[in-house]
Amino acid sequence: MVKVAPSLLSADFARLGEEIRSVREGGADWLHVDVMDGRFVPNISLGLPVLSSIRKATDMFLDVHLMIVEPVLYARRFCEAGADMVTVHVEADTPENITAALRDIHAAGKKAGIVLKPATPAQAAEPWLREADMVLVMTVEPGFGGQKFMADMLPKIRTLRERIDAVHPGCLLEADGGADANTAPLLIEAGCDVLVAGSAVFKQADRGAVIRAIRGE
Ligand code: DX5
Ligand code: ZN
Repeated sequence: MVKVAPSLLSADFARLGEEIRSVREGGADWLHVDVMDGRFVPNISLGLPVLSSIRKATDMFLDVHLMIVEPVLYARRFCEAGADMVTVHVEADTPENITAALRDIHAAGKKAGIVLKPATPAQAAEPWLREADMVLVMTVEPGFGGQKFMADMLPKIRTLRERIDAVHPGCLLEADGGADANTAPLLIEAGCDVLVAGSAVFKQADRGAVIRAIRGE
């Protein structure tokens, strides 16, 4: 069964505790937390103090998506602030520093993943496929919620599914951006294990209904 990870980016930040409880009660599997620095992406979202507060407010698995330059400088601190999984963009630094970031995350006892922007080909994941716990494929340009799903990312997802199955079957495959009840079947068919959904979940009052619809229940 595919996991659903609501993205807090579309939640009401003044009521984060209630928003988190609503998706937990609605059956969400993980919570996706988008961290933006205004440099890697043209937007600024939240950072370490907010993640620490989220950690105190919930026992949910926290999937922290770092959209920041030089993630190696902060990966360990996001682990200490309460992340269960930290993902870093392969475009955000040199290959050596991306490797160092993954090692820091693992040294902190947390899961580590890599993220590919839409223009980044599947082959860019190869150097880290064996050590990554997850590969995240962006199905919108990172930076904002509520954008249109890029169906042209589906072949890349299929390619990564094949490569993961060949070299590291335990590695998860996640998609982020534009997932809803209409696009989820395409992502599931292409081989995703985890679907991030922001606006689709938080714009609906009945979080359980939309989470079930995304899972295809
Ligand atoms: C975008 C973020 C996403 C975003 C997804 O940069 O990484 O997690 O919240 O939002 P939706 O589901 O609305 O496309
Ligand atoms: Zn995200």
